[in-house]
Amino acid sequence: MSNIEISEEELEAIEKELKQLDEERVRKVSEKAEKTYEEKKPKKIEYRKTTEGITRISTGVPELDEALEGGIPKGSWVAITGEPGTGKSILCMHFAWAGLQAGDPVVYVTTEAEFRDVVRQAKMFGMDFERYSIYDISSAKEPAETPNIVVIDIFGLLKIARQMSETIADAETAKKRRFAALDIQTLVAAIHEAYKILGVLKEGGKSPIRHVRLIIDSLSAFWADKPAMARKYSYELKIATHRENVTAYLVSQYAMTTRSTFGFGLEHIADGVFHLWMDEVETKKEVIRYMIIKKMRMTNHARYAFKVEIEPGKGIRLEPIK
Ligand SMILES: Nc1ncnc2c1ncn2[C@@H]1O[C@H](COP(=O)(O)OP(=O)(O)O)[C@@H](O)[C@H]1O
Ligand SMILES: [Mg+2]
Repeated sequence: MSNIEISEEELEAIEKELKQLDEERVRKVSEKAEKTYEEKKPKKIEYRKTTEGITRISTGVPELDEALEGGIPKGSWVAITGEPGTGKSILCMHFAWAGLQAGDPVVYVTTEAEFRDVVRQAKMFGMDFERYSIYDISSAKEPAETPNIVVIDIFGLLKIARQMSETIADAETAKKRRFAALDIQTLVAAIHEAYKILGVLKEGGKSPIRHVRLIIDSLSAFWADKPAMARKYSYELKIATHRENVTAYLVSQYAMTTRSTFGFGLEHIADGVFHLWMDEVETKKEVIRYMIIKKMRMTNHARYAFKVEIEPGKGIRLEPIK
């Protein structure tokens, strides 16, 4: 066997070539890794963006924002309709959470549950409302600081109703007013009070000077005993609280059988409608939820339905059905 003679120069050249090959491989591998990451990384939420003069407000659900050309046009009234268990309340939590992230003040009306339960449920989906300052309107104390969220539940509504009754001279009328918690006028007064507490009103004004998110879960409670009034009440509420700087989610609870009387009052006055439903459980023997954007003003929104997945730790995830 003869020794292979390699000169210093040749050795150097080989080393250089090897090094170049190595760099090439490293570059290729990292390029691939980067591409995979870009494809797989969680979609980033843009809380607010303005295109063609329309400011879009994030729903907190990336797939929904995407289906809405970036989000809901600021100042819209969005009706969330559907039967129980379809995800309406969780959709509201995402909307509130996105607001807190964006620095928007939030008014959260809950007639279905105590806010404590809303907080607990939201936490299961990674939204920790307690990281923000929450003020309950039923509280006997003034807020120590300007809160991020003002909560209005049934106790808050009762407090406002009582305050309203105190200004009425006629005893009989006052008594009626005192217990009218689930009355549209009470709700309107409570929302105006919330705007005041959030410090978004000009002295003596009624229109917020900053963008506010208003959530009412649900409105059905206000016309539960008189469904035929749904349309009139929705209209009254809109006139009194709808402002350029208020983007609202209004939940309308309805069962399949009473669809027309319960749902449509609100849908008529809404700028947008998200409708949720589920497959007939007795036939499917499984809960399969869906959602569709029925309308959204000033938006070329997706026209297909989504399958709604509710995942622990994450909340709502939408899968388009195309
Ligand atoms: N931690 C959780 N993980 C997964 N799914 C959940 C969790 N908590 C609740 N859900 C699902 O969400 C449903 C409730 O959704 P919700 O928004 O309250 O419905 P709606 O307001 O339309 O009645 C429950 O019935 C359950 O199927
Ligand atoms: Mg609900």
